[in-house]
Amino acid sequence: MALLEIIKYPDDVLETPGEPVTEFDERLKKLIADMFETMSEARGVGLAAPQVNVSQRLFVMDCSGGSDPSRRVALINPVILSVEGEQTGDEGCLSFPGVFFAVTRSLRAVVQAQDTNGEMFEIDGMDLTARCMLHETDHCDGILFINHTTRLKREMVKRKMRKLARAGKWL
Ligand code: NI
Repeated sequence: MALLEIIKYPDDVLETPGEPVTEFDERLKKLIADMFETMSEARGVGLAAPQVNVSQRLFVMDCSGGSDPSRRVALINPVILSVEGEQTGDEGCLSFPGVFFAVTRSLRAVVQAQDTNGEMFEIDGMDLTARCMLHETDHCDGILFINHTTRLKREMVKRKMRKLARAGKWL
């Protein structure tokens, strides 16, 4: 396994819709293993392929934050089947170091995806799991969490990120 570089905003790959995954091969399994390693090292609960400069529709998730290996899951070609309810809470993103703000999302989400063998499965998630699946599926479609806040807040975050990028200051 290898640690991958996490792409920070602004970068075109983060705002480009990923291509569907069509090859369920060893290269894909290696990418996913590396993404789990990278997410765990960065103490994230989710990481999408565009965030490691791979413009494809897949993400890894571990809403236990590394404490429960059974909750590590990779979702390939995710599709949101249904959502219900609403939750508002602080959200962050590994591509926006040090940036957290309140985002309103659905309380529950049912997502269909493929596993590393191409088999279809579904996850019916609440609370953090729903929030994470919605945030990461957005990444697969080139949509960022700053698109879920007010224009004013979005501009503030963009300014902060450009300033950090110029200073070369990442956490
Ligand atoms: Ni993110």
